[in-house]
Amino acid sequence: MEVITAKSAGFCFGVKRAVDEVKTQIQKGVKPVYTYGPIIHNEQVVDSLSRQGVRVIRSEEELSQIREGTIIIRSHGVPKRIQDKMESLGVHVVDATCPFVKKIHDIARKAGEDGDVLIIAGNPDHPEVQGIVGWATGEVHVIESAEDLEKLQIPEGKKAVLVAQTTFNKLKFEYIVEIFARTSYYGYVVNTVCNATDERQTEAREIAQKVDAMVVIGGRHSSNTQKLYHICSEKCANTYFIETLVDLDLKPFQSYSRVGITAGASTPNSIIEEVTEHVRIKL
Ligand code: F3S
Repeated sequence: MEVITAKSAGFCFGVKRAVDEVKTQIQKGVKPVYTYGPIIHNEQVVDSLSRQGVRVIRSEEELSQIREGTIIIRSHGVPKRIQDKMESLGVHVVDATCPFVKKIHDIARKAGEDGDVLIIAGNPDHPEVQGIVGWATGEVHVIESAEDLEKLQIPEGKKAVLVAQTTFNKLKFEYIVEIFARTSYYGYVVNTVCNATDERQTEAREIAQKVDAMVVIGGRHSSNTQKLYHICSEKCANTYFIETLVDLDLKPFQSYSRVGITAGASTPNSIIEEVTEHVRIKL
């Protein structure tokens, strides 16, 4: 009987950096400390920070009411308009946007300045994509599939710049790039799919195909955890999506001899360790 825990499970570099920033501001920041949206898609972490006084700003209207304290921008980033608004409030603004996301903001800004059309492969409802759109200074389109790309009407003579949401499925993006190369669009591609996601997805796929059951740990609303679950389910029929140990029913595990464990980018190490230990003992 064996339990294989993915090495790439848990906080990625950008999320760890943002969560650490909140902890730093709790210690030495101007109070009250706010995050613009929950710092990560993990209720346990958000609850624990809330007990330490961190408040979550949930809308632009709420943001307008803030007069003092520290506002932390999470790793997803925000549209330029929102960042400008924060800065105009005269409060202390801490930008914990992941540098890899910041790089896409720069591409978005420059594309517009150069008169190019920006195409983002991603989920239009995801805050990261909304943030990128909000840094674009010219024509911008969000596509979710190769079909969406084919439907676009790029004005003749315009250059198109194709980027991806950092958590976009790598294989899907490669396919979109292939179609991009086959269209009459003239332009270039910057592969902005983050390595952390790529590594996590590849490792999850490899583990899922050699185990009897796979446990995916992460927040229900975390899109990267949902994608991990989808990838694992394709390779392993007995894939379980849990937020914490409480959600895990170990009864069916009696018949498994090899179990794999992975976790989304917002899952703290403590939860991964707890689940791993528990499965190991029960097996
Ligand atoms: Fe940054 Fe990649 Fe994480 S873009 S927030 S390190 S998934």
